[in-house]
Amino acid sequence: MHRLSERLLDPAVPGDLQALQELHGSVPDFYQTTYGRPPAGQEAEATFLDLPPGKGPEDKVVLGFFEAGALVGCAELLRSYPDPSTAYLGLLLVSQAHQGRGLGRRILERVYDLAAGWGCEGLRLAVIATNGKARRFWLRQGFLEVARKPYPGATGPALVLQRPNPRYRPARPAASMAPAEAGAPLENR
Ligand SMILES: CC(C)(COP(=O)(O)OP(=O)(O)OC[C@H]1O[C@@H](n2cnc3c(N)ncnc32)[C@H](O)[C@@H]1OP(=O)(O)O)[C@@H](O)C(=O)NCCC(=O)NCCS
Repeated sequence: MHRLSERLLDPAVPGDLQALQELHGSVPDFYQTTYGRPPAGQEAEATFLDLPPGKGPEDKVVLGFFEAGALVGCAELLRSYPDPSTAYLGLLLVSQAHQGRGLGRRILERVYDLAAGWGCEGLRLAVIATNGKARRFWLRQGFLEVARKPYPGATGPALVLQRPNPRYRPARPAASMAPAEAGAPLENR
């Protein structure tokens, strides 16, 4: 396996929009299973720009994962949605040719880190019920179904899945620090 590198994708960076659209095009089985059609051509733009009400571009990141210079995976993450302590994983995509090699799990680890950096103690996402491969993946990663909603345009309802963020560490209030931590003289430690 080549080394996996990552960086934020940006529609203003030449090549990023096209590379992301090619990544969407590299998962035909996902589109057929989930939407009953191939990708339409606007998916990369939607990944960058689509936002729920009340959220702005500053709340969203699209992380790209590269192997040997090629974009092989991405994660789209929304800060503090649908509530301040939750990060919403809008999309996790691994190129079909690279699936089943542990990349999805490695990308998810980075998502946990990023969400923890935002102070988000929970992760939430939606998976279309007909997407059995992804559904199994999420359940294996410790996500649990918390709701089920109709999803117009998809081949089945959306299952809303959630799990605590394993990387989240609550900030310790200064007042509750033990004396040693709060700066007691060295000889007392
Ligand atoms: C769902 C998806 C993100 C999973 O990513 P992935 O890279 O295929 O998943 P992984 O390889 O990390 O994990 C799948 C299995 O491969 C195993 N695996 C195979 N080779 C491995 C390796 N070399 N190292 C680690 N794990 C490996 C993993 O253990 C895991 O098995 P498990 O489920 O028994 O734990 C990916 O299939 C995908 O992008 N699908 C299309 C888009 C999609 O459905 N996205 C989700 C929408 S909600």
